[in-house]
Order: sequence, then structure tokens, then C-alpha cells
Amino acid sequence: MLSVKQKDHPIGVFDSGLGGLTVVKALMRRLPHEDIVYFGDTARVPYGTKSREAIIRFSKENVALLRKRGVKMIVVACNSSSSHALAALHETFDLPIIGVIEPGCRAAAKATKNKKVGIIATPATINSYAYPQEIARLDSTIKVLGQACPLFVPLIEEGWSTKPVTVSVAKEYLKKLSHSQIDTLILGCTHYPLLKPTLRKVLGAKVKLVDSAEEVVHDVRETLEKKNALNSASHKAQYKFLVSDEPAHFQKLARRFLGFDIQDVARVTT
Ligand code: DGL
Repeated sequence: MLSVKQKDHPIGVFDSGLGGLTVVKALMRRLPHEDIVYFGDTARVPYGTKSREAIIRFSKENVALLRKRGVKMIVVACNSSSSHALAALHETFDLPIIGVIEPGCRAAAKATKNKKVGIIATPATINSYAYPQEIARLDSTIKVLGQACPLFVPLIEEGWSTKPVTVSVAKEYLKKLSHSQIDTLILGCTHYPLLKPTLRKVLGAKVKLVDSAEEVVHDVRETLEKKNALNSASHKAQYKFLVSDEPAHFQKLARRFLGFDIQDVARVTT
């Protein structure tokens, strides 16, 4: 149970790299009095092509690292990690830990009208079946179609989200999904919101694109409210960014995710 003095402790957020910043952006906007410590495991990105064992081990190390910095809760802002490691993290650590799968499924189940939902994600997330299982739990009449897109994360980390090469790759990956009459597409990787313009180009305006960030914020607020641990409304939030490889590239690309420059980026070891 969180004690009252932990109200002013930061929220810890981690991802394999830059993608989790899409969740941080939503947290900054909707919970402006909360401090955030973000960890991007840039030395080991991508997670989405790694084994379940590796993803669980990295995720535990990331939580331990953030915990040492006194965070009051953790957001696993990585689908690959949420789909494989969330249960292990809940078993291992005694602070509140929220993943991104359940919030994304909730949003998609609300959005779909024809009950045909597509998911694009890393191979690790697709192979875990975490999305179809969670959607079936929410509404067993929804048909779910998944597509692994391993090239998307490197293209985004390279800063190439809207380049013609990425449009071509997206056309190839989305061929099957676009023929299957889905009306909703879950962006099952926290990097993918940066691909929205490219995905729109390929899928047209009719397919709803669901990114879980807003629903995640809802869960964070609810968790902190229940524990009486929301920071005071007079507090001006502070943000810290930690990475496991050199900070310069992260700092440069962070602008594309957040829309502004960040200064405070430090290199740490897990
Ligand atoms: N942004 C992450 C995800 O949501 C990780 C991508 C990766 O590291 O492969 O899956």
C-alpha cells in the first residue's frame, strides 16, 4: 500500500527505447502535476524480436532500476514487455505496475462497430497472443487479426516514419489486413503512433487507429486515486530521462515523439 508521503514521488515509465515516450506525452498532458522518470533501454532495443526469457529478464531489471529511484508506480510502456513480462513483474515486485495491452484492447472493443479488429505489433507481441486473449475476454464476438511488423521499430528509431521506404513497407505488411474489412486497427507497439500519417495513407480514413496511451493514462489516474497518491495540484512536474546507451541519439529523436526538446538525459546501467 502506498503511503501518503509517496504522493510526491515520480511515476516510473520504461520502454525498450523511444516508443514509450508516446505514453509519457499523454501522461504529461493529462496528469501535469506528476513527476516522471523514464527509462529507455536503448542498449538492448528492440525487444520485439527477442525471446520471452530475455524480455522478462530485461523487464525485471528495468523495474528494479526505476524502483531504486523511488517511483510510486510503474508503467510498462512497451507492448512486447507487457505481453510477456507483466505477470512476472506483478509476482516479483510489490508496487503498482500497469501494462499497455489491457487499455488498448478496451479502447478497440469500444471503437469497433463491425467487430473486426486488426493488430499490428512486434513479432514478440503477436506471438504471445496477449491481444486476442484479452479482446476475447472483453468481447468474444470480436474477430481479431494480427500482423507482425518487425521493420517498423528500426525505421521509426531511425527517424524515417514518413519516408517513402516506410510507406512501401507498410503497404506490404498491411496487405492482408486491409483486405479483411477491419474497421479498427490497434497500434500494438508504443513506437507506432509516429506512423499514423503513413498508416492513414495506406489504410485510408475509414479505419480507426487505436493507440493505448490515453487509456493508459486513465488507468494510471485510477490507480493513484485509489491509493490517494496523486501529487498535489500546486506541484510543477519534473521529468528525468534515463537511457542505457549514449544519450545524444535519444535526445535528438525524442523531439519527434514529444514535440519539444528534452535536456535532462542521463546514461545508466541496469
Ligand atoms: N515499443 C515497444 C513495444 O511496444 C518495443 C519495440 C521493440 O523494442 O521491439 O513493443
